[in-house]
Amino acid sequence: MSVSRARIARAPFGATRDGRPVDAFTLANARGLEVHVITYGAIIVSLRTPDRTGQLDDIVLGFDTLDRYLSDSPYFGAVVGRYGNRISGACFTLDGRTYRLASNDGPNHLHGGTRGFDKVLWDANPFDDVRGVGVVLVHTSPDGDEGYPGTLRARVSYTLTDRDELVVEYHATTDRPTHVNLTQHSYFNLAGAGAGGVQDHELTLHASRYTPIDAALVPTGEIAPVDGTPLDFRTPTRLGARIDASHEQIRNGRGYDHNLVIDRNGADVAHAAHATEPTTGRILDVYTTEPGVQLYSGNFLGANGGVVIGKSDHVYGARSGFSLETQHFPDSPNKPQFPSTVLRPGENYRSRTVFAFSAR
Ligand code: GLA
Repeated sequence: MSVSRARIARAPFGATRDGRPVDAFTLANARGLEVHVITYGAIIVSLRTPDRTGQLDDIVLGFDTLDRYLSDSPYFGAVVGRYGNRISGACFTLDGRTYRLASNDGPNHLHGGTRGFDKVLWDANPFDDVRGVGVVLVHTSPDGDEGYPGTLRARVSYTLTDRDELVVEYHATTDRPTHVNLTQHSYFNLAGAGAGGVQDHELTLHASRYTPIDAALVPTGEIAPVDGTPLDFRTPTRLGARIDASHEQIRNGRGYDHNLVIDRNGADVAHAAHATEPTTGRILDVYTTEPGVQLYSGNFLGANGGVVIGKSDHVYGARSGFSLETQHFPDSPNKPQFPSTVLRPGENYRSRTVFAFSAR
């Protein structure tokens, strides 16, 4: 007889500047994995998984208090929307109409603008059923929000399964044609958040093409083979092996900050990435319905001589975490050759990503 010890709990996690209470949900599965999610930004604040000896540790970067998330978070653990990554010129034309978006990255639009989905309070409902324990978060973004057309009703659910997976599902509808591209911006360090750089992680990306970027980190529009470039992770390779290579793409990205085109081979939910950390044996596998994944090596963390003081006073320097943001390609609204991110009234935006944890 197997008795599931999966559980879910809700607790206060401070209040927004205008006094609205923020809640934290703890999802725990029968095997000891534990995820903390807060209603502000739908942020994953911590994620504890076992290493090869069974030792649990927190493997995502983040802060201990809401205050830090309110003031200066580099999207730690957040759901990014309405549009993950950059839209060039903070502008797009859809059905003959031009929309001006908030420009918050030089002249470009990044991660949904000045007050993207990472900075809003979501309504939350926990659940505990055959799928596992989880929480459903909903947010309605009004017509014109950050410049986007259409009232967007967005839903994100996190499910922790007893197979040690964190399943992230996204759904959205609109009442006017618009663009949507939601993603999850956790920064992983499988050695433990605050344990130093991530360069020794060994990474496999099932991607034979990528979208090259210019110096402003915006795709040029080209879809290029990874062959012979530092973006080729088709066989297991140290993340740090070519991170400072003298290659134009690495210079433009200040390291890795690139969208890889996943080799789907007809799969609904394709295996995008496999990362292992040699000292702890922790493994992360990423599966997704999305066509792309942004490999970001945390290059801007502690940039300009600053440092980020994270959970338990750990110092997060540059490259102390990496992200695998499953997504449609950056700047798709201005790149008709990329898979479309248009959502129209009556359509359902659906996306699913599975983060699977193990150790060896
Ligand atoms: C994404 C972008 C990066 C950077 C981070 C947040 O991964 O691609 O350039 O903006 O988010 O700092």
